[in-house]
Amino acid sequence: MKCVIFGGGGFIGSHVTDAFVARGHDVRVFDRLSSDTRNHIGIPSQIEAIHGDFFNEKDLALALSGVEVAVHLVTTTIPSSSNENMAYDVQTNLAGTLRMLDCALSAGVRKVVFASSGGTVYGRPAIFPIPENHPTEPLCSYGITKLAIEKYLQLYQHLYGLEYIILRLANPFGERQNPLSGQGAVTTFLAKVAEGASVTVWGDGHVRRDYFYVGDLVSAFVKAAEQSPQSKIFNIGSGSSLSINELLSIIRDVTGKNIDVVYSPSRKLDVPVNCLDTRLAGDELGWFRQTTITEGIAKTWAWMNAGTLKA
Ligand SMILES: NC(=O)c1ccc[n+]([C@@H]2O[C@H](COP(=O)([O-])OP(=O)(O)OC[C@H]3O[C@@H](n4cnc5c(N)ncnc54)[C@H](O)[C@@H]3O)[C@@H](O)[C@H]2O)c1
Repeated sequence: MKCVIFGGGGFIGSHVTDAFVARGHDVRVFDRLSSDTRNHIGIPSQIEAIHGDFFNEKDLALALSGVEVAVHLVTTTIPSSSNENMAYDVQTNLAGTLRMLDCALSAGVRKVVFASSGGTVYGRPAIFPIPENHPTEPLCSYGITKLAIEKYLQLYQHLYGLEYIILRLANPFGERQNPLSGQGAVTTFLAKVAEGASVTVWGDGHVRRDYFYVGDLVSAFVKAAEQSPQSKIFNIGSGSSLSINELLSIIRDVTGKNIDVVYSPSRKLDVPVNCLDTRLAGDELGWFRQTTITEGIAKTWAWMNAGTLKA
């Protein structure tokens, strides 16, 4: 199957690219990263890589030509930055995605697989673990924009027959996640531990998140591209949650290091708990988490200590 991976040079995208290649798909990576970065993140030279801008229609037309499935992993914001400039969030992520969908229709693309956010679209949860039909009340622009994109994907299918699958991701972590990106507590904390610096925690450390290893995530994208399940929206996570303090305790055990923790005032955008119900992905896609949090952190720590961005 000919696929384009938008954002294939990023953290999740580079792993998704590896997984699609391993399944024998004909993969085209699209990212604004330079060829130096291509080597840096380990995209093999035989993979077609387009260095382009997601917000340029000519680049999009090139990226989508001859493609059956488009995987959409581009983002210009993270939850915290999205609230600082909401108009930018909408103009880039939402409007940019609509232009991509129009180009996908023109190119005859059959299906779009979209990375949404199970950590932000639901807001404060009323039920644990959170099912896909839980009310959606985001506390940040990032979550609102992700939801709006989900609604447009439904509309494009209704109006034009463009197929879609939405994966609402919890908190993936692992190799190639940029510890300076501001997203991803596990990698951020590990990097601080590696340099012997203190770790800053927003709030008292009781905030709970649903962490899972990126090596488990990628098969959800492969299955979403290959299969035609009845449902179109799937939670992808560990199905359980850990407090930040519990996470720090596991990081202490894995690294064998003492961690100096600085507690700061909590942020308004942080929901107190996030834990996704992933049974639908198990039932319909046959997707299950394989790696324990301790195993995933050990692999990420080994990668970080290897001193290379490749994995
Ligand atoms: N990492 C997480 O915790 C998480 C959780 C839920 C959802 N997601 C979603 O998954 C997707 C991938 O996340 P990630 O963590 O890999 O992010 P990332 O920042 O590592 O990857 C995004 C990629 O998009 C590329 N990109 C951005 N703007 C571009 C443009 N104008 N043209 C071309 N390429 C552009 C970047 O260069 C980058 O390689 C995003 O949509 C994100 O919102 C991530």
